[in-house]
Amino acid sequence: MTSKPKIAVFASGNGSNFQAIAEAIQEGKLQAEIALVVTDRPDAFVIERASQLGIESFSFVPAKFDSKQRYEEMLKEKLEERGVEWLVLAGYMRLIGPVLLNAFDNRIVNIHPSVLPAFPGKDAIGQTMASGADTAGVTVHFVDAGMDTGSIISQKSFPILGRDRAAVEAEIHKLEHELYPATLQKLFHQSVNKKDLLDSMRG
Ligand code: GAR
Repeated sequence: MTSKPKIAVFASGNGSNFQAIAEAIQEGKLQAEIALVVTDRPDAFVIERASQLGIESFSFVPAKFDSKQRYEEMLKEKLEERGVEWLVLAGYMRLIGPVLLNAFDNRIVNIHPSVLPAFPGKDAIGQTMASGADTAGVTVHFVDAGMDTGSIISQKSFPILGRDRAAVEAEIHKLEHELYPATLQKLFHQSVNKKDLLDSMRG
């Protein structure tokens, strides 16, 4: 692993997790370089955030391609041109297909706003609230072909204590913005085996 691995952040919307990762890099808390921001939504606010930070972004419209295979081949070329080593999904609302899974084997991570395996998929916070659960939380995990099913790397939870959705969502984002950069730093720079890493990041 290089001392500052090159990463690409994939996002579909607001990009607050991208911003948290970029700021952790600026503050020296995360040794990495964001080589590219990729979005499947040309109107996503993450593009504005990247531009403010002087980071290159690339947007594409999946519907303009014949298949996922075709657009992933195009993305793979862009990523390889820039020497990207890791894909960091931060609110990217699409499943990753075989082209990118094979090209970045065990080097794709995602953050999800629930304590997986509970509440995978869309609107995890809404699912959590509707279930009447006592706790909410976030998970960072490796990406496989399934929907939020890869090995868990780190998790944090907190008691809901009767708070409404807006308050729970705010707490989740706060937690995500701390947990994601910290987890990436450990993943990129701790030469521990995977099981030790998983054990050290549970809590
Ligand atoms: C985050 O809460 C992230 O966990 C979630 O999308 C949000 C993106 O926020 N991801 C998923 O639900 C993936 N299944 P952001 O654009 O402000 O970073």
